Amino acid sequence: MSAVSKFDVADDVAHPEVSANSSLRSVIEASGYRPYGDWCWDGYKPTIVALAKAYGLTRLLEIGGGRDPSFSPEEAAEHGFQVTINDISSVELENMKANFGTACFDVSGDISSTGIAKGAYDLAYSRMVFEHVKDVEQAWTNLYQLLAPGGVAIAFYPTLYCPPFVVNKFIPESVSSAIVNLLYKHRTADEDPKFPAFYDHCYGAPGLVEPMLRDIGYRDVAVMPFYGHEYFINIPVVREIDALVSNLARRTNFGRLSAYAYAVVRK
Ligand SMILES: C[S@@+](CC[C@H](N)C(=O)[O-])C[C@H]1O[C@@H](n2cnc3c(N)ncnc32)[C@H](O)[C@@H]1O
Repeated sequence: MSAVSKFDVADDVAHPEVSANSSLRSVIEASGYRPYGDWCWDGYKPTIVALAKAYGLTRLLEIGGGRDPSFSPEEAAEHGFQVTINDISSVELENMKANFGTACFDVSGDISSTGIAKGAYDLAYSRMVFEHVKDVEQAWTNLYQLLAPGGVAIAFYPTLYCPPFVVNKFIPESVSSAIVNLLYKHRTADEDPKFPAFYDHCYGAPGLVEPMLRDIGYRDVAVMPFYGHEYFINIPVVREIDALVSNLARRTNFGRLSAYAYAVVRK
């Protein structure tokens, strides 16, 4: 997978100019979007910065940032961001080492009790959070309330029907936790806890997500899939078959077999 997946032509691509009138898709393409499972990890923070710069967004809310926010305080200062970290878990926020403001609430819950004003944020972003949210449509509806007009939200999540995530969705939580503990010794409840995953609306196929986002009222929406993952890296044969299927899905842009996606919306 990695032999062909990593930025093979990205550096040769001429990136179009972006402006405040550009579509989300063109901003993300201009930031170097490549539909590979390794690009989505490396490209996530640059994509957030590109969106912020394109639309002049400064008040940021990280959803489910937990103990490990995406930006350091130094990076936030460098980009002129005022960052607030949200999480459903007060324990995660208490374990956060960076000195950011916090907002403890369920992104898919009743946000009227949070005391946060409507339109308080310009840019909401999340990484590996939406698969843990039971009602993702409600989460996107809440973000619509929290964003100022012209504001942007981006969710980066693992997608169905990528085999390891299908397995994680359907096996009991006790079994998946035991597997994770067996494979990854550092994944203890104290150091790096595993959270239950539901994968509600976690698709890389645009047609399975974009209509829901448009119905909420967002003026621009884009679901950008990524293909390939490393879960089978130590399992010969399965690894090769999975890479073949992922590469075929990428070439044919068959989003139902992507591994990850960015869902991006603009109010
Ligand atoms: C897998 S961790 C990801 C943490 C961090 N975003 C990262 O990439 O390292 C998922 C985080 O989402 C939080 N979370 C889960 N459900 C949530 C919800 N409904 N609202 C807000 N945060 C939630 C969890 O408490 C946890 O901190």
